[in-house]
Amino acid sequence: MNYNLANKTIIVTGANSGIGKAASIQLAGLGAHVVMMCRSKERGEQALQDVKSAAKSDKIELILVDMSSQEAVRKAVREFLSRHSKLDVVIHNAANFDHTQKKPVITEDGLENVFATNHVNIFLMTELLLDTLKQSAPSRIITVASKGLITYPFLDIDFNNLAGEKKFSMQHAYYQAKQAQVMYTFDLAERLKGTGVTVNCVRVGNVAIPDTRLEHLPKFLLKMYEMKRKFALTPEKMAETYMWLAADPSLDDVTGGYWDAPNTPVKANKNAYNRETQKRLWNETAKLAHVV
Ligand SMILES: NC(=O)c1ccc[n+]([C@@H]2O[C@H](COP(=O)([O-])OP(=O)(O)OC[C@H]3O[C@@H](n4cnc5c(N)ncnc54)[C@H](OP(=O)(O)O)[C@@H]3O)[C@@H](O)[C@H]2O)c1
Repeated sequence: MNYNLANKTIIVTGANSGIGKAASIQLAGLGAHVVMMCRSKERGEQALQDVKSAAKSDKIELILVDMSSQEAVRKAVREFLSRHSKLDVVIHNAANFDHTQKKPVITEDGLENVFATNHVNIFLMTELLLDTLKQSAPSRIITVASKGLITYPFLDIDFNNLAGEKKFSMQHAYYQAKQAQVMYTFDLAERLKGTGVTVNCVRVGNVAIPDTRLEHLPKFLLKMYEMKRKFALTPEKMAETYMWLAADPSLDDVTGGYWDAPNTPVKANKNAYNRETQKRLWNETAKLAHVV
């Protein structure tokens, strides 16, 4: 893919590892100004150097953000807006999927950590960036879900257990948040029709996770990841879909899509298309994100 991204400003969250880092290299390599949003100063600074050198570009910067914290999201967006008046694309790639977590962790905002990081605070970040995205139109919002959702054909949003207060499993919390991202994508696309801001969701499949990120895992999980890796895509291959959604000129008016790969739309489960649930999810999320 050989796009010209000079003059494009693109935020990538979770840009220090895996698909986010690979996408940052590809986007910066084609001339985009990439803003890498990362949680850890140490990992972020190392990744910034790696991306600059791999992309042979200096038009890359780092902003720290812990996506589990609303204050951190607000601060990161303030920092971005103090330096930039234009935003062409935001890629909401960061996600918490620590399968060693057995009990719910409650954030400083009183939310269950997985739902906060992988859904509520993505909503918050988008809301805070929306005026700038509209002023920069045509512009694009890219969300990230998981192909694992196909193993949950009846999954819906459990509004009575959003904080995992009744029962918690990492698996359920992760897929509920990803289902919420899919529904949010469809709903936001409707809400933004006519603004020139599009919203599309990537359905990420089995992608190899760097060894260094697996060292802390117990043996049985390591074995599982080793097995999965035999059939996995590389982060670079998956990042091509991020790149296509961020850059392909044919997509200026394409919104509300769910994609496995370039030019490969897929269907979400039936519940994801329920407009009433989408609206309820919007209202609940707006309250939890304190944007109403
Ligand atoms: N790999 C797969 O097989 C697969 C399958 C389905 C969906 N996905 C989705 O694909 C996306 C990218 O995953 P990946 O495979 O590239 O995994 P990865 O290499 O583990 O990258 C995840 C990124 O998210 C960041 N992150 C996690 N929690 C964060 C927080 N609270 N604040 C800020 N950043 C945070 C991580 O930063 P730290 O270094 O600070 O942890 C890291 O940069 C995720 O949305 C994931 O859910 C992946």
